[in-house]
Amino acid sequence: MITELPIVIEAPDGKATWGSAAVDHPMRAVTRAVAFDPDGWTPERQAEVVTLFDSLAPEWTSRDVAGRELPILDALDRGLAAVAPAGRSLAVELGGGTGLYSAAMAERFATLVTLDISWEMIRLVPAGRTLPVQGDGAGLPFADGALDALILVNMFLFPAEVERAVGPGGVVVWVNSRGPETPIHLTADEVDRALPGAWDGVASRAGWGTWSVHRRTVGP
Ligand SMILES: C[S@@+](CC[C@H](N)C(=O)[O-])C[C@H]1O[C@@H](n2cnc3c(N)ncnc32)[C@H](O)[C@@H]1O
Repeated sequence: MITELPIVIEAPDGKATWGSAAVDHPMRAVTRAVAFDPDGWTPERQAEVVTLFDSLAPEWTSRDVAGRELPILDALDRGLAAVAPAGRSLAVELGGGTGLYSAAMAERFATLVTLDISWEMIRLVPAGRTLPVQGDGAGLPFADGALDALILVNMFLFPAEVERAVGPGGVVVWVNSRGPETPIHLTADEVDRALPGAWDGVASRAGWGTWSVHRRTVGP
């Protein structure tokens, strides 16, 4: 079950900025296919995604406008604090792009890995705070139950891999930086429904975005 938390960080300009949802964006169709169809991640979709994000990589840092970080920080602060204490050893930011928020994430975990399928993105991750790895979230290069946290900021949800790789008591941090206007968007309830097994969690909005933190429950 997802518990909604009150909003404590308003949008920077003081008003709601959401317009129409990005339902027609090609990445929205991929998001829903991957989350709800076990065979949704096809070679054709993989190739489409790599081509798109390789082409966007050189300009990706221009998205780092002041305020975009607010839902990520709120999720990492209030979200992680609101679920029962989880390990803080190994976190993976999947679909981390050029690692715009690696420093903030690395402060909260002993080890952070930034994993992305796009070589053109991952090669731009700044050295130092995180371990950049090129790979596909549909087949995470980690042992069963190895992850304390899987962080997904505007990134696809691969439910079967989350179920396999996140350990008991581990968390999924889900952030959409422009809420329902984000092309890669699912509501907190949709993430909850898509995840196999037993999870609970909290959700809220911050700035222009939405976030949820889902904790894999331990025991009955
Ligand atoms: C919308 S961008 C978000 C980047 C970053 N999280 C941010 O918000 O600035 C999505 C990222 O996910 C990566 N990606 C897409 N599918 C992936 C997959 N199957 N495995 C790993 N990375 C993937 C893309 O290459 C891209 O860098």
